[in-house]
Amino acid sequence: MLVRRTDAIDALADPGAAGWGAIAAETVKLMPAPAAMQPTRYIATKWRDQAYGAVASLDVQGVHDGATIAFRLRWRDSAKNAVRFENTDFPDAAALLFPLAADAPLFMGAPGQPVNLWYWRADFPERARSDVASGIGSSRVVDDTAITARAAHDGEFWSVVLRRALKVQANAAESVQLEPGQRLRTTFAVWEGGNLERAGIKAFAPQWVELAIEA
Ligand code: HEM
Repeated sequence: MLVRRTDAIDALADPGAAGWGAIAAETVKLMPAPAAMQPTRYIATKWRDQAYGAVASLDVQGVHDGATIAFRLRWRDSAKNAVRFENTDFPDAAALLFPLAADAPLFMGAPGQPVNLWYWRADFPERARSDVASGIGSSRVVDDTAITARAAHDGEFWSVVLRRALKVQANAAESVQLEPGQRLRTTFAVWEGGNLERAGIKAFAPQWVELAIEA
């Protein structure tokens, strides 16, 4: 997927901006994160026979202006869930995963092979968390100010734009560093809050998506 260079990145902060119509989108297929890979037998057993990972695909677009990068994620979810409350209400959410080590596995990294997660939740629609993980069960928050977001729900689809500086100083070692001309890979996860999806119970893309950041 090409992350196009643009000089209209501020206008494209708006998920409904007409300018997104000119940016090629990649449709990424999703599947439920396997119950067998959940960290506890309790979760694995509880969800083994329950349908989850409700969101089947995600459309992704990317632009940058040499200093800032923006991704637009768009997926079908007709029920807007924007509340987190104990064990009864979970917000819709979406995430990108970037390897911080060349061969970090897409299943949330592994010990010594960390990944950086950009995690947006509908109950905090104007920002995304930057987390790091070195395997399933190990994710932790690194920062929650570097990535800004704007989200819109049109009754059928979520459209969310995440923006961050290509390079960050704070928490640099635990944050993906990007530059024009770079090729890297990423993958995605989406949580349908209305289906009580959270943590490991979600839909994810079981394949890498190759990104090319236009020079
Ligand atoms: C087989 C695939 C996957 C499995 C089984 C899985 C499992 C889990 C589990 C058990 C947790 C909760 C424990 C923890 O925080 O480490 C978790 C959290 C998380 N995962 Fe995954 N994961 C998978 C793939 C992914 C992918 C591809 C992404 C991103 C694109 C992702 C993003 C996240 C995020 C952001 C959290 C933190 C959520 C929170 O704090 O509530 N995961 N995952």
